[in-house]
Amino acid sequence: MKHVRSIALSLIFALAFSCTKKSENGASSSATLLIGEYGSMTGASATFGQSTHKGIQLALEEQNNLGGIQGKKLELLSEDDEGKPETANAVVTRLITQKKVLALIGEVASSNTLAAAPTAQQYKIPMISPSSTNPKVTEVGDYIFRVCFIDPFQGTVMAKFAFENLKAKKVAVLRDVKSDYSVGLAKYFQETFTKLGGTVVVEQNYQAGEMDFKSQLTEIKNKKPDAIFIPGYYTDVGLIARQARQLDIKVPLLGGDGWDSAKLFEIGKEAINGNYFSNHYTTESTDPMVQDFIKNFKVRFNNETPDGLAALGYDSAKILIEAMKKSDLTSKSIRDELAKIKDYRAVTGKITINSQRNAEKSAVVVKVDGPVNRYVTTVNP
Ligand code: PHE
Repeated sequence: MKHVRSIALSLIFALAFSCTKKSENGASSSATLLIGEYGSMTGASATFGQSTHKGIQLALEEQNNLGGIQGKKLELLSEDDEGKPETANAVVTRLITQKKVLALIGEVASSNTLAAAPTAQQYKIPMISPSSTNPKVTEVGDYIFRVCFIDPFQGTVMAKFAFENLKAKKVAVLRDVKSDYSVGLAKYFQETFTKLGGTVVVEQNYQAGEMDFKSQLTEIKNKKPDAIFIPGYYTDVGLIARQARQLDIKVPLLGGDGWDSAKLFEIGKEAINGNYFSNHYTTESTDPMVQDFIKNFKVRFNNETPDGLAALGYDSAKILIEAMKKSDLTSKSIRDELAKIKDYRAVTGKITINSQRNAEKSAVVVKVDGPVNRYVTTVNP
């Protein structure tokens, strides 16, 4: 009886093993190299997904024009997660288990990446976030990477800018309590700002999608801050800026990379002009590599100027290509090669993947001037 059972067991094992082998996400059998992308192509942060997608497309097309990788063309499978964490995880699960992608690029918003990253980690499919800056993202595991700086750095950049450049002593903070990005960045900003000798006089909360910020802004106005830090996404920030000016709040508004969208000025209009945010790249860079990227992007996409998301999307795809070229085209070896990326010259700066799978890069501070974001300064890590 015992013997029969052990034979049955080993049969089951053998079967299970051959099944996993056959269904392994890989390229050896398929004609193209499948790359999955998930992002907010629709919803309140739609420009994040759309811009990133264009950047990725451009990089993959360039590589395919060079013949692809090891004789195979790259194929991008994109999924819209509508900017929702649950959908992000659902589409990533589908890309991995049904489409059998080799690697994944996404997401932009930290809360969405955090929702999907455990699935990529579980199936051991390397995932590169182009632009999620919350520290927790890459802490999910050794298959999760990013090509951007993280929020403890970004928060420090803006705290120093407020204290040293703008000479602000008292600031107010207005954050989106449902967003990992917003809550984290608010915290890191406050830590540095108080360390420098400044005071956070009031902290107010909102939730993405709210339309009326008057009560929070009135509380803030009563405390007479020298500046207001608003680490949110462009749709909310545009509305907040307009309502702040309607309440006759005249102090500078400050933010982080979440402001980066052509839609910021469309929504915020005059009210958002003259305010500052930290970002990953500036179109005003004199680096020939940046200018080449802008030129090629405009030719490919109907004269559209690439925002930071487009640049980071492009860079994340370039890094993935670099790792794939050196790999044996399995997810495991692509992961191992990603971990070794060093001094890669990218549009958004030199990328070295550190032991935490983050990229240590400089940030720029820009000033909103209509549809253009004027370069103010660069801050190195
Ligand atoms: N850093 C933001 C986040 O983690 C996303 C973002 C990056 C938005 C760059 C705009 C530009 O949620």
